[in-house]
Amino acid sequence: MSNVVIVGAQWGDEGKGKVVDLFTSWADVVVRYQGGANAGHTLVVGGVKTVLHLVPSGVLHPGKKCIIGNGVVVDPEALMDEIDLLRSRGLLSDPSQLVVSENAHVILPYHKRIDAGREKQKAIGTTGRGIGPCYEDKVARRGIRIRDVLKASALRDKLESRVGEANAQIQALGGDKCELQPLIEWALKLGERMRPYVGDASEVLSHEVAKGRAVLFEGAQGTLLDIDHGTYPYVTSSNTVAGNAAVGAGIGPTAIHSVIGITKAYTTRVGNGPLPTELHDSVGERLRSVGAEFGATTGRPRRCGWLDALVLRYAARVNGLSGLAMTKLDVLTGFEKILIAIAYKLPNGKTVSEFPSDPELLERAQPIYEELPGWKEPLGDQREYEELPENTRRYIERVEQLVGVDAIAVSVGAERAETIVRKNPFRHP
Ligand code: GDP
Ligand code: IMO
Ligand code: MG
Repeated sequence: MSNVVIVGAQWGDEGKGKVVDLFTSWADVVVRYQGGANAGHTLVVGGVKTVLHLVPSGVLHPGKKCIIGNGVVVDPEALMDEIDLLRSRGLLSDPSQLVVSENAHVILPYHKRIDAGREKQKAIGTTGRGIGPCYEDKVARRGIRIRDVLKASALRDKLESRVGEANAQIQALGGDKCELQPLIEWALKLGERMRPYVGDASEVLSHEVAKGRAVLFEGAQGTLLDIDHGTYPYVTSSNTVAGNAAVGAGIGPTAIHSVIGITKAYTTRVGNGPLPTELHDSVGERLRSVGAEFGATTGRPRRCGWLDALVLRYAARVNGLSGLAMTKLDVLTGFEKILIAIAYKLPNGKTVSEFPSDPELLERAQPIYEELPGWKEPLGDQREYEELPENTRRYIERVEQLVGVDAIAVSVGAERAETIVRKNPFRHP
């Protein structure tokens, strides 16, 4: 067996949760390694919809170990709400099924207030979950970690020195400051509730790897939201690319054998920043309404457009993709023509076929499209690749050719079962 990373190949919401849930049937362990409750991963099984923000998307499979790695920023309230919900449904009855790294950083109320205040100054369109300010504290070496909310004396010392500074920031941004004592009490209470799940995630995971267990690393957000490789500054505050799976989980990169990029059959983005193939017409409207393109975390409408092969080629490069999984093909049923961006015309007159790294050029890039014939048949009941309409296969195969990576899975509906798996990702070539 091998270990597989799942990453978003676009701007998030590609259907990572659905694919991770499905692939968990072949895995023993599922690990979140970055991001926080800005993620919204939707799983639909037997008509029951579950949206997960922090708990790995393997949790619906009893007995499969779920790990929240050191690289995740944990909102303790969001985590406990999610655990309570899962437990009320008879899941996670054994607390040892979930391990939360004691080194993961904690999102505190002041992080959310700073996030909200900053949005009023320069709108990135964040999820407002305090993600950026928490990662800032981590890098500035003044963060509060899960281990700290388990020890009253350590927590008091650390918060005493931090809260004054955080409050100054909040007040400069026009927000309400946080009181120290209630904050300490709040954090310790949640710390007690999290205690049964907290452990040395790196050690637990390395034992699983040593035993030859199959591990699925569940990325959050998407490649173009990566702090280094995304459309900076309109990005999230962590490395979303596959290379960070090792760092954020506490294992070495040699434990990773393959990387699957999840892509929608078209493009969406929620929040601000460049989106070259964005459509402001009836086609964009149709993708949004048929695809139900509203954020799983904030409910915001997603910006929609045609598939962008430059984005996917770039994702293949920076993640080292070994396979693609293409979701939401069913949404394209009924379009007479389907377009794929194959190059950009830049404001300097040049035509490029590689994703430009210069944000000013990207902002004004005009996509050059290739047109493919559409199909009329609904796809939801299809379970065999060969039985898909010819034009659907032609579309998938053209994308594979443009990106240089094979589509190992194709999703034709939100349900776990509405998927065609062409190759088991855990099997070595
Ligand atoms: P994630 O953040 O990458 O896990 O994706 P989200 O859950 O935020 O958004 C993906 C949305 O598309 C969810 O509502 C899924 O239930 C839905 N979805 C996933 N795959 C398919 C598919 O193949 N077809 C359709 N129609 N919906 C899908
Ligand atoms: P999943 O895992 C889509 C976007 C926000 C904003 C930017 C920064 O469900 O794919 P942040 O709150 O992280 O500081 O916001 O990143 N964003 C996402 N967009 N899917 C996500 O997660 C996202 N997480 C953050 O909309 O543009
Ligand atoms: Mg999502």
